[in-house]
Amino acid sequence: MSRPLAHCAPPSLPGGLPWLGHALDLRRDPVGLLRRGHARLGEIFSLRLAGTRVTALVGPQAQGAFFGAPEDELSAREVYRFTVPVFGRGVVYDATPAVMDEQMGFLFPALRDDRLRTYARVMQQQAEAYVEGWGDEGEVDLLAALNELTVFIASRCLVGAEFRRRLSRELARLFQDLEHGINLISLVNPYLPLPTFRRRDRARACMAELITSIIAERRAGATAGDDFLEVLMAARYADGRALSDEEIVGLLISTIFAGQHTSAVMGAWTGILLLEHPRWLPAVLDEQAQVLGSGDITLEALRRLVALERCIKEAERLHPPLVMLMRRIVRDFEYGGFVAPAGGLAMVSPAAAHRLPAVFADPDRYDPDRFGPERQEDRRAKHALIGFGGGHHRCIGSTFAQQQIKVIWSVLFGRFELSLARRGHQPDYSTFVAGPRPPCVVRYRRRRARGPVAAPVPAVSPR
Ligand code: HEM
Repeated sequence: MSRPLAHCAPPSLPGGLPWLGHALDLRRDPVGLLRRGHARLGEIFSLRLAGTRVTALVGPQAQGAFFGAPEDELSAREVYRFTVPVFGRGVVYDATPAVMDEQMGFLFPALRDDRLRTYARVMQQQAEAYVEGWGDEGEVDLLAALNELTVFIASRCLVGAEFRRRLSRELARLFQDLEHGINLISLVNPYLPLPTFRRRDRARACMAELITSIIAERRAGATAGDDFLEVLMAARYADGRALSDEEIVGLLISTIFAGQHTSAVMGAWTGILLLEHPRWLPAVLDEQAQVLGSGDITLEALRRLVALERCIKEAERLHPPLVMLMRRIVRDFEYGGFVAPAGGLAMVSPAAAHRLPAVFADPDRYDPDRFGPERQEDRRAKHALIGFGGGHHRCIGSTFAQQQIKVIWSVLFGRFELSLARRGHQPDYSTFVAGPRPPCVVRYRRRRARGPVAAPVPAVSPR
């Protein structure tokens, strides 16, 4: 007798290798694999990942079910515990869900409008100082440059001016060592005695020492800052307890980590896609000329940069930095008449979700106007555009990230004429945060005078 539909496991995606299952396909081309699965099997199906069954949920409604599931059904904590050696003990995924919620709540005061207003100025200063050393013309690798710049911005806005002053280029490389400590092996066991993990631990210890010394100076009466460190030092848990130094360090490192490389990647794609499709550039540059003038970049002006904002959204849609979001299924999870049994993993993929033709018209085409007032394709369904996640764990730093990307491109377009050394940039899915595959070289030539900008001569033919 066949079992009732409500007790069926989701259909399995055929193919894959004996033990690895679909792991290699997922690493090579997750979008292609998941799109094929969706076209063949629908919104919910399972694949095999090195011995683990992963239930994929593709489509706004299925994604909504994933984001809406409670922690005791789909657990983020159980799947992201591999971040503990980077984030630290007692914080985020090493804390109970209730404590993690309180800790995430500490972030909100650091991301309020008055702070964002201060950060706009700081972001501009950091970006201008960074490109000061570029000279009149030359070439840079865009992702490498934005990786450095976003470390400087995050360090200054979150940990403070003292930290930023002590953060040399050398020290900024520590972030890379930390980042490399999160990889496929760390998913299995982040404590193996490997050189990558030793470098990760050294980098974290070094950063923790630096931050702890700044906390000690502030406690001893040094000037308070307009940064997240200050917010954390003043914060209290619901029971009145202050945060320990270790918790403060952990939350600062986690926040920088969550937002830095992701912002660099989205910033890089924003510029690469715009320069690859120069027909969209004049609208962005005209808007810059009209809105920004030549002085300070204010929060109000940034909010009026709607053409640039659509280009950022289109970069988020086509190349979301976090390609897959995972949860551990801790209690049987039901969707669409199927039950994904406890023990496996559940996954949504922003990268695949954003390429569904039923949601986004002609989804492989670069078209920032899809987010314009007439079309608003991201509003056709809840959980359609999910580059910043959704539900309880939705990204807390999305406004900060988008603001930062706007400031960076306003400074770059304001100072330089830019073109790409080549076209056809592709995502590198082999890393945890999927950026453009290097090299992504941009050529720049400094504009003679500040003021209204004109569209640069593209290195590539317009499409
Ligand atoms: C373009 C840049 C960014 C992208 C693409 C991004 C993306 C995401 C995504 C997809 C999630 C949800 C993860 C999940 O559900 O498993 C998330 C969560 C989070 N993000 Fe971001 N993020 C960015 C920037 C930032 C920044 C700048 C900050 C901090 C200032 C930040 C802080 C966080 C935190 C703390 C969480 C965890 C929230 C929770 O679990 O409750 N992110 N981010």
